[in-house]
Amino acid sequence: MKLLVTGGAGFIGSNFIHYWLKNNPQDFIVNLDKLTYAGNLENLKKIKDNPNCRFVKGDICDGKLVDEVMDGIDIVVHFAAESHVDRSIKSPSIFIKTNIIGTQVLLEGALKRKVKRFHHISTDEVFGSLNLDDLSKFDERTPYNPRSPYSASKAGSDHLVMSYFYTYGLPVTISNCSNNFGPFQYPEKLIPLAITNILEGKTIPIYGDGLYVRDWLYVEDHCRAIDLILSSGKIGETYCVGGLTEDISNLDVITKILEIMGKNKDCLEFVKDRMGHDRKYAINWSKIKQELGFIPEHDFTHWLEQTVKWYEENETWWKRLKQDEFSNYYKEQYNDL
Ligand code: NAD
Ligand code: DAU
Repeated sequence: MKLLVTGGAGFIGSNFIHYWLKNNPQDFIVNLDKLTYAGNLENLKKIKDNPNCRFVKGDICDGKLVDEVMDGIDIVVHFAAESHVDRSIKSPSIFIKTNIIGTQVLLEGALKRKVKRFHHISTDEVFGSLNLDDLSKFDERTPYNPRSPYSASKAGSDHLVMSYFYTYGLPVTISNCSNNFGPFQYPEKLIPLAITNILEGKTIPIYGDGLYVRDWLYVEDHCRAIDLILSSGKIGETYCVGGLTEDISNLDVITKILEIMGKNKDCLEFVKDRMGHDRKYAINWSKIKQELGFIPEHDFTHWLEQTVKWYEENETWWKRLKQDEFSNYYKEQYNDL
C-alpha cells in the first residue's frame, strides 16, 4: 500500500507516520510537507533512513506538485493545515489558503489519480461551543457552527471533502477529533507551552478565568482511530473521535502539570482572554466505538506524566523551536510576559 501523508512533519502527522510504519512496515509513505514554522523534520529523525518513507518539501496548494506526488497513491491521509486558533485570529488569510484551497487542490489531485481513499483530518471545533452547564456532546449529527477563522477554515475544508464525495464519488472519510497531546507538539499549544515554560522558570499564561473545557486525547489514540477508519470506515462517513476526560478545565489540566512537576500555583499568570474563546468542547464518540470498536486506551493523568517526561528528556528539541520564530510570536501574543 502506498500512502500520501500531508503535514507529516507536524505534531499529529509525525506521530501518525511513526505509528503507521511500526504497524505496517511493508507500506510506503510519501510525506508532503511545506515545513512551515510548525513542520519539523526532527520529529521524523528516528525513521530518516527508512527506505519506505520519502519526504517531499512542498505546498499542498501547488497543483502541479500535488499531481506528481499523487501518482500511484492508494490512500491520502490529509493532516496539513494551519492549526493554531490564536494565530488564525491574528492572520486569518493563510488559514483560508492552506486549509480550504490546499484541501481542494488535494481533492482534485486525488480524483484525477483515482485514489482508493481520501481521509481528511478535521476537528471538533467545527461544531462551535457548548455552555459549561450543557450536558450534551458533539456528535456526527451536530450542525456546524465554527466561531474562529481556524475552525471556519476547517469547516470549509470538511464541506469541500463531502462535496467531492457527493458530486464526483471520491471515496472520502472524515474524522473530527478533540484536543490531542503528546510528544512533538509545537510549544504554542497549552500543554507543551505550560510544561516548557515551567522548565524555563517562566509563568504559564491562562486565558480569562481558566474554566474553559477541552476533551483531551493522547495522540496515539487518535492515530489508532484513523487506522480503524482507514481499514473499516464507511465511505462518505464522518467519525467523531474524543478522549477520556470528563469536563476538565484548563486550570485542572495546568494544576495536574504543576503537581507532576512539583510546582505551586505561583507559576500561573491570568492574561487577557482569547477573542471569541469557545467555552467548552465535548465529544460523543459512540459511533466509532460501536461501528469500528474504537476506545481510547491512554488514561489522561498517566499519559500527561509521560508527556511531561518526554519534554523533560527532549529539551534540545523544544529549546531550538522556542528560540526561533516562536520567541517573536510569544512576545507579541503575550505582551512580553
Ligand atoms: P501542526 O501545526 O503541528 O502541523 C501542521 C503540519 O502541516 C506542519 O508540519 C506544517 O509544516 C504542515 N503544513 C502547513 N501548511 C502546509 C502547506 N500549505 N502545505 C504542506 N504542508 C503544510 O498541526 P497538528 O496539531 O499536527 O494538526 C494536524 C491536523 O489535525 C490539522 O489538520 C488539524 O486541524 C487537525 N487536528 C488537530 C488537533 C490537535 O489537537 N492538534 C485536533 C484535531 C484535529
Ligand atoms: O479541539 C481540537 C483543536 O484543539 C484542534 O483543532 C486545534 O488544532 C488545536 O490547536 C486545539 O485547539 P485549542 O484552541 O483548543 O488548543 P490550545 O492548546 O491553543 O488551547 C487549549 C485551551 O487552553 C483553550 O481553551 C485556550 C487555552 N489557552 C491556550 C494557550 C495557548 C490558555 O489558557 N493559554 C494559552 O497560552
